[in-house]
Amino acid sequence: MKPTIFVDRAIPDAVMSYLREHCTVDAWTEEDTVPRGELHKRLAAAEGYLTSGRRIDDELLAAAPKLKVVSTISVGYNHFDIGAMKRHGVTGTHTPEVLDETVADLVFALMLGSARRVAELDRYVRDGLWKRGDGDNLFGIDVHSASLGIIGMGRIGEAVARRAALGFGMKVNYHNRSRKPEAEAKYGAAYMALDELLSASDYVVLLAPLTNETKGLIGKREFGLMKPSAIFINASRGATIDEEALIEALQKGTIRAAGLDVYQQEPLPAEHPLLALPNALLLPHIGSATTKTREDMAMLAARNLVAALQGEEPPHRVPEFKN
Ligand code: DGY
Repeated sequence: MKPTIFVDRAIPDAVMSYLREHCTVDAWTEEDTVPRGELHKRLAAAEGYLTSGRRIDDELLAAAPKLKVVSTISVGYNHFDIGAMKRHGVTGTHTPEVLDETVADLVFALMLGSARRVAELDRYVRDGLWKRGDGDNLFGIDVHSASLGIIGMGRIGEAVARRAALGFGMKVNYHNRSRKPEAEAKYGAAYMALDELLSASDYVVLLAPLTNETKGLIGKREFGLMKPSAIFINASRGATIDEEALIEALQKGTIRAAGLDVYQQEPLPAEHPLLALPNALLLPHIGSATTKTREDMAMLAARNLVAALQGEEPPHRVPEFKN
């Protein structure tokens, strides 16, 4: 008998067909996110759950007594309460690798967009403010030949380093739990302690996954160590920084600008202080959001789910659940 799974979001037709070949699929088809009560009802019979970003905690797991696998369509899995999942005998999978180049592209979009004030000056043109006397009021700063500090030199970090060193002639610094000799050799990347990287880099890109160790990693002290001309990019998770400290740093000119794809609260609420800052470039968590990459991620998540339900080793089990 096919296992029953619950899919809580729209996924490409090809992915749904693949899932239907192997599973009995219950799918949420509304545009709005499935409400918690409804989710609990739908999970009562499910052995597998395909989601993205939904918090998996004791309360949810208590409502899902048959659940064996949660497969997230994301590389980040900070929404998994690993301890709770282990207690309930539920494993977790995620979707690394297929999104690396796409996220690295977006990091560059944030760097270039912040440095050359792309969104701000687009608004300037649309608002009819462009005039003959314009000059240095439109100036930005260079990305090419500048120094780049990457915090979190995983696969995405390396894809950013490659673009930076080989495409933009940048000097790459990095900070990571472990040294990356290959990246050092290929991109001339220099390993640095965090404080050293912060004070030495024109661009600081945060890519470290959200864990207990990285929560609030960049706060008032760290922004204070950056150059006043520095541009800070966050493409990891909102909680890896102290957002209030960032806002203060942007308001006071402690740093020049920030390019953000992630926030402590998503979607960003109306009236959020970041919205009033012209030196903040704000994107709605779209790091991996191209059609092809999102399709690849959904298919990988489906393969993870099916393999795990069939008792095979899934392509990408979350490391904490590996033996
Ligand atoms: C991820 O995959 O973790 C990206 O942040 C998109 O959610």
